Amino acid sequence: MSQTKIGVLISGGGTNLQSIIDNINEGNINGSIELIISNRENAYGLERGKKAGIESIYINPKDYENEESFNRRLIDEFKKRDIDLIVLAGYLKILSKEFINKYSGRIMNIHPSLIPSFCGKNYYGIRVHEAVLEYGCKITGATVHFVDENTDTGPIIIQEAVKVAEDDTPDTLQKKVLKVEHRILVEAIKLYCDNRLTIDGRIVRTK
Ligand code: GRF
Repeated sequence: MSQTKIGVLISGGGTNLQSIIDNINEGNINGSIELIISNRENAYGLERGKKAGIESIYINPKDYENEESFNRRLIDEFKKRDIDLIVLAGYLKILSKEFINKYSGRIMNIHPSLIPSFCGKNYYGIRVHEAVLEYGCKITGATVHFVDENTDTGPIIIQEAVKVAEDDTPDTLQKKVLKVEHRILVEAIKLYCDNRLTIDGRIVRTK
């Protein structure tokens, strides 16, 4: 089976990206990362990409008239490299409708909660874990899902729960959830690259 060409969008530290890179290098994923794009210049994920010998570029959204034209540039970059699968690995911007339509069923996102809880527009980064603790939840977790036209609403691929301890802080919870994210994101990418995922409405089935 031919290798899946993966494009990754990031905004920050890129620990999820690192986990994908490591697993590809260990031969666990039948794919290769062809391009990493960050919307933030100082995102450490860009360094991780470069260290791994992967083309890693910063594109400044402010150089574009609007979100649509910025997203068009992203599409162009991915098209040029024949990218099959786009992974949002801590990408903190919303994709345009055009982008989502062009890559329908081929964009994956990792979210640090059990969707449909603590997700959507205002839930990202440490805020998710703060909200989980404020609510008094006893479990939280992570979700990998395909991206549709709304925020965090697309078909779910994998979820895994994490227990909340009484002495957890947003920071400790974030660390615990991140460990799970690294594992299930890789697992979902692996399934995709092995052609084992099908989307049936909201339901993702694994062959
Ligand atoms: C992760 O928690 C991810 O779920 C969220 O942003 C964080 C990014 O972490 N969307 P990293 O950049 O992969 O280290």
